[in-house]
Amino acid sequence: MKLSIIGTGYVGLVTGACFAEKGHDVTCVDNDPAKVALLRGGGIPIYEPGLEDIIRRNVAAGRLRFSDSIAEGVRHGQAVFVAVPTPPRPDGSVEMRFVEKVARDIAGAMTEYRIVVDKSTVPVKTGLKVADTIKRYNKAGVEFDVVSNPEFMREGCAVQDQMNPDRIVVGVTSQRPVPAMKEVYGPFNAPLIITDINSAELIKHASNSFLALKISYANALSAICECSHANIEQVVDGVGFDKRIGRAFLNAGIGYGGSCFPKDISAFIAIAEELGCDFRLLKEVQRINADQLHRFVKKIRETLWVLNDKVIAVFGLAFKPNTDDVRSSPAIDLVHALQREDTAIRAYDPQGMEKAREILKNVTFCGDPYEAAKGADAIVLATEWDEFKSLDYARIKGLMTHPIFFDGRNQLDPAKMTALGYTYKSIGR
Ligand code: UDX
Repeated sequence: MKLSIIGTGYVGLVTGACFAEKGHDVTCVDNDPAKVALLRGGGIPIYEPGLEDIIRRNVAAGRLRFSDSIAEGVRHGQAVFVAVPTPPRPDGSVEMRFVEKVARDIAGAMTEYRIVVDKSTVPVKTGLKVADTIKRYNKAGVEFDVVSNPEFMREGCAVQDQMNPDRIVVGVTSQRPVPAMKEVYGPFNAPLIITDINSAELIKHASNSFLALKISYANALSAICECSHANIEQVVDGVGFDKRIGRAFLNAGIGYGGSCFPKDISAFIAIAEELGCDFRLLKEVQRINADQLHRFVKKIRETLWVLNDKVIAVFGLAFKPNTDDVRSSPAIDLVHALQREDTAIRAYDPQGMEKAREILKNVTFCGDPYEAAKGADAIVLATEWDEFKSLDYARIKGLMTHPIFFDGRNQLDPAKMTALGYTYKSIGR
């Protein structure tokens, strides 16, 4: 099927590439000519495992191409997927100007029936507003349908999530676009859930909020474990075996971050408020998340007493492993918190250094964890990269001024670290 994607960010690029991989004929559009030029030249603007291969393969096979013209995208795609940014406004609500602009542009370019599919994460009732906008700006009265089709891909395994989804949600206002949406997703072999359009939009915010809620629940439990000398890992393992609960997203740490959870939870609170509902549960989820980082910094301060002048090695800057994304990363917040107390930071991240350099000032960026550990009064593990589990910690101990280790992601074995001579502190155990 001929498909177009408007916006080549994480969501748009991965979606377009995976559609092509499943045999569809895809045009990806972006209004940034430099990005389009990069993609046309074989470059990939983001780090996402597996993406480069898929893009290269499908461009070569003629199933995937890039354009900076929405008109070209609208001409090409029977279904036009909108995957443009919906960033947060300062008050937590969602900035809708890019979605609205694309709706107008699509309206202006449409000459025959099109299905306009919203993939961006948007407030409930956006689809209806997009439909009104297209109707208003398409003077020729061309027929169209608006569909909501939220994405559920995690950075770092976005390709895998997109190729093997748990479910596909399709929100519609009429049955007309349903067969085409079934054709788009037929090759993905996943349950297709057809809902009304408002429900589809809510499913996205409800899913991400629930996952964040699980993390905050584990983090709140970790505080209780610390006060009661219990072990959070054992507690959540025991809880997670209950199939009704599940073990996933119950890892305590220094909190959730990234471009989705913080933004989506703020947005959902703001959306609820606009609808006259006070979503206090989610406000508490946010509060616990912020507290978790403060509690961790307090732990570091209590151990080192005065932080001023201390050299701290930070392992991990990305908001989670297998990505170079440092947006709303708890690791970055942690560095800022430590810098406010005049520590000297030596940092290392397997992928996130380049992007971290744009945000962090006065940090010594190191080529590997061993270099970062040199002369450190303490190490803080802030992102759960696999690489950090298998380092030579005996060697690292020898490089440090003092063998003090704060494990913000419970990645290492407390008994082993203590046996090596470290003062080792983690979360909730
Ligand atoms: C999330 C959703 O999972 C995905 O479905 C949605 O479409 C986009 O938002 P992503 O932001 O890529 O994906 O990251 P995710 O893997 O969900 O992790 C989010 C944050 O939670 C990370 O900072 C991670 O370290 C943290 N986390 C995750 C925990 O602290 N504990 C856990 O148990 C799981």
